[in-house]
Amino acid sequence: MNPPSLTDPFGRRIDYLRLSVTDRCDLRCGYCLPKGFKGFEEPAHWLSFDEIERVVAAFTALGVRRVRLTGGEPLMRRGLTELAERLSALPGLDDLSLSSNATQLESLAAPLARAGVRRLNVSLDSLNPEVFRQITGGDLAQVLRGIAAAQDAGMNPIRVNTVAMRGINDTEIEDILDYCAARGFTLRLIETMPMGATGQAAASAFGDLEPIRQRLQARFELIPDILPGGGPARYYRVAGTDTRLGFITPLSQHFCATCNRVRLTVEGALYLCLGQDHSYPLRDLLRAGIDAAELQMHLRQAMALKPERHEFNERPGQVVRFMSMTGG
Ligand code: GTP
Ligand code: 5AD
Ligand code: SF4
Repeated sequence: MNPPSLTDPFGRRIDYLRLSVTDRCDLRCGYCLPKGFKGFEEPAHWLSFDEIERVVAAFTALGVRRVRLTGGEPLMRRGLTELAERLSALPGLDDLSLSSNATQLESLAAPLARAGVRRLNVSLDSLNPEVFRQITGGDLAQVLRGIAAAQDAGMNPIRVNTVAMRGINDTEIEDILDYCAARGFTLRLIETMPMGATGQAAASAFGDLEPIRQRLQARFELIPDILPGGGPARYYRVAGTDTRLGFITPLSQHFCATCNRVRLTVEGALYLCLGQDHSYPLRDLLRAGIDAAELQMHLRQAMALKPERHEFNERPGQVVRFMSMTGG
């Protein structure tokens, strides 16, 4: 008998869960969060660690091998290290990763690495402190210290995510690539997606990555490359070096045919596609006390809702939820 697995109506095997542990963030990137700060209290409707663990265990029982902790900013969730430890211990989970803005990594990288977080993707949109502050509202030096701490803690691979914004940071890409090359990091450039009002305004202003790719191609020889694990980026290796450069181009060249992932929000809704609104509510079921077998049955049922692809180009105003709800 084949081992249990999750497959969607388009024959895609789902083996990757993006787990949003908070919708809060300490930065304010204009393409992501709505204005207005929420405090740090944890509303009762947020999933508890026990509830999260039950859901992840059901996913791993169905063949999901990889979980990425996302936010908002995941390190804003109190006790994240404990959650990471509990998830790492689940049988079948062999890749626990983190997407973070790195502001809190100076103190948290080492404990998280000990708790089993191996792979790290960090957001870094500028190496100029003023531009960085303008984009994020945050302190670049603190972020760079956080990234260095993650490297010292042995997190590997470290991938830097840069949302490329015309007229704001697009002239800095070569500098960011040098920064990454010097440290063995992979750089990924991202097209802004029209998620919520913030993302919609930004996406219409920044356009596609092709001109940047052509500019880089003129300066470096870029050799197509494949990194293990799938994911949304198309990679190149800079000839003569070990440096990898990835392009995440949901708008100019979507990658939905190979999609392998679903997303759980901190409120317990399972989103089947980043770029669509289909979701399956799990929180009330968890709180009604369903058992592991029933939970697995619901996860299988939810897969039927997975859409074929996003429609960011055809219907750019469609997704009202902000990126911070699912963490990308
Ligand atoms: P790995 O594949 O595990 O390395 O992670 P990742 O690259 O998917 O994760 P990360 O959190 O670093 O996301 C980078 C960018 O890719 C973000 O802008 C995400 O929103 C985007 N992204 C990730 N998965 C998808 C997806 O399924 N669809 C779309 N359209 N964008 C995605
Ligand atoms: N479009 C594309 N990427 C986004 N991110 C946040 N908002 C958007 C958006 N509207 C990125 C962050 C982070 C990653 C997880 O998602 O910069 O690197
Ligand atoms: Fe998958 Fe939807 Fe992302 Fe496309 S937009 S890759 S279908 S989650």
